[in-house]
Amino acid sequence: MFYNNINKQIINMSYGNVGYMFVGDKSIEFYRDPITFVNKQMQEHDTRIFQSRLLNKPTIFLGTIQGVQDLVGECSHNFEMGYKVFMHGLYGDNVVFSEGEEAKRLRDVLHCIFQPDNVQQFNNKLQDLIVKHFSHMDTGTEISAYERFKHFATELSFSIFLDVVPDHSDEVNELLSQLITTHWHGIISVPLSLRMPYWGSKSGYNKAVEAKGKLIEIIRDRLEKANKGDFLHRITEAGFQNQTEVENHLLLFISALVPKAFASILTSFTLALSGQDKSSQRHQACVDSKYLDHVLLEVQRLWPPFFGGRRLTRKSCVLDGIQVQQGTAVIYMTHAAHRDPKVFPDPEEFKPERWEENGDELEKLLCCYGGGKRKCIGIQLIKKIIKEVCTFMLSNYDWTVSSDQDLEYKWLPVSRPKGQLMARFVEKLA
Ligand code: HEM
Repeated sequence: MFYNNINKQIINMSYGNVGYMFVGDKSIEFYRDPITFVNKQMQEHDTRIFQSRLLNKPTIFLGTIQGVQDLVGECSHNFEMGYKVFMHGLYGDNVVFSEGEEAKRLRDVLHCIFQPDNVQQFNNKLQDLIVKHFSHMDTGTEISAYERFKHFATELSFSIFLDVVPDHSDEVNELLSQLITTHWHGIISVPLSLRMPYWGSKSGYNKAVEAKGKLIEIIRDRLEKANKGDFLHRITEAGFQNQTEVENHLLLFISALVPKAFASILTSFTLALSGQDKSSQRHQACVDSKYLDHVLLEVQRLWPPFFGGRRLTRKSCVLDGIQVQQGTAVIYMTHAAHRDPKVFPDPEEFKPERWEENGDELEKLLCCYGGGKRKCIGIQLIKKIIKEVCTFMLSNYDWTVSSDQDLEYKWLPVSRPKGQLMARFVEKLA
């Protein structure tokens, strides 16, 4: 990889303060506005890697491509995944909380299910839902782009992972949507309750636990009724060790996190190519599939759905020249690494053309789907879904977004413009 030739020395410098337990904790500042928090720290210490105290734990924040590459690549054996404390209670055992051989076994099973040939089998479901949600959007009124994409992606995940037939199952979709929303509210309530363990109401979390129970019941019921050829039948035969493993992974796939991430990317795409002044870019993306790939890479570089990922340090090691002590947490900041000027010159500029030369190598450095041995399993599926939706939109519509709205982004828990992003879609003339 062309970026690996960097001279790795341990830099002896001040790069932030982890403060004292509780009083030195910066969780509130971070969760309130992560970008302002991070930019301030990076500026103050004149470095893209700094330390602070988050969720009451000394935490290293990585904002360089090299740092993230070290973390997910050659140093990955020194780390474990850092999500169990937030999410295990609401998901149960699954690959995300597993380590070592166990993680490898589960990943192997999942890789079989989501390999490119199998992803092709989702195509009919995808096309049906694209037509259902995105035909006839030219009604003369503005719609919330984010809500429209989220509704689509939610039904798509029920259709793909639970074999719910969209047109016959409005009630099932409605019930599942309510349950995953309640479940989600529990997940996002956890981080700050960890910071102040005896602070605040537990009712959101308890409702989420209840919703999890109901979701598992529905999943179990659908597994029992699955027919040969259904996704639910295939996943049962895929090689999981028992039914609980199957159920817990289905819960992971249908949870609100995934539709929100799809809606995030599709909304950012809509915004990036909106308006009269982007009509030639839209045209090129419509007729030139490679150019559309470059637009989508640039969208994911600038507006990754997830701010980053978390690890816990099992064994001290060095990341991009910085010593990381055993016991500290590490956050790789996708948002900041994707703006590392050493790799992406003019980092804030939306430039699809930056992917023309060396694009495949450069893509390996993006971390919006993680990287290395713990990289996202769904990438083939995600790429297909995003590209099909964007191609449909480009082929059928021109669009604008109203200029008098707040287009500033919020980044947690999943990125998107702060407002609704009201957009008007106008059908193209044949
Ligand atoms: C746009 C949608 C998605 C985004 C942005 C996304 C992003 C990510 C990221 C960043 C990670 C790595 C986390 C880390 O390094 O700590 C990850 C892991 C994972 N993703 Fe996705 N993902 C998406 C959709 C999906 C879908 C549809 C599936 C299911 C097919 C999926 C399955 C997984 C699994 C199983 C892991 C855990 C891998 C492991 O722990 O070894 N993802 N995803």
